[in-house]
Amino acid sequence: MILPIVAYGDPVLREVAKEINADYPNLKELIANMKETMYNAAGVGLAAPQIGKAIRLFVIDASPFAEDDELSDDEKETLKNFNKVFINAQILEEEGDEWAFNEGCLSIPDVRHDVYRQSKVTFTYQDEDFNTHTETLDGLAARVFQHEYDHIEGILFTDKLPSLKKRLLKKKLENISKGKIRADYRMRFPNLKKSR
Ligand code: NI
Repeated sequence: MILPIVAYGDPVLREVAKEINADYPNLKELIANMKETMYNAAGVGLAAPQIGKAIRLFVIDASPFAEDDELSDDEKETLKNFNKVFINAQILEEEGDEWAFNEGCLSIPDVRHDVYRQSKVTFTYQDEDFNTHTETLDGLAARVFQHEYDHIEGILFTDKLPSLKKRLLKKKLENISKGKIRADYRMRFPNLKKSR
């Protein structure tokens, strides 16, 4: 089932999400719905707060990035197979030089900006069967992980922009929260006066 994606301005996007355990109700179904919602919106990642649940869960399928000809064969191979569910993720370490990548977010349609992040991230998480893993990612795979991880910490990529850019974006972000935006997928707007 395709779920409506929560738009910028909804307080659920600002919560520090809570850990879950294997007893979380209908978890398999929720994960399947989140994947369907992500694919329907042509996203490479979707975090639970974006469908209105402040829990530490996100899904990633970065395989569309594997088509980028500027990447090394190794990186293409990593991205092609980077299709995972992350439960209760915790970053242990971020390292390496900061680099810029043009990010977007399904909760903030039509806004893209260069965001600086460190190149390498090490973290723990649980998979769908609640087995615990520790992993290190770098490059674009790390970038997608870091963006989704921010969502479960209540952080959006627009928070990371220089203050001048943030000021220039303010009106546009307000408009998104009011539903004054066109997206190619179902959305839920916190400040929409009339329903549609
Ligand atoms: Ni996002």
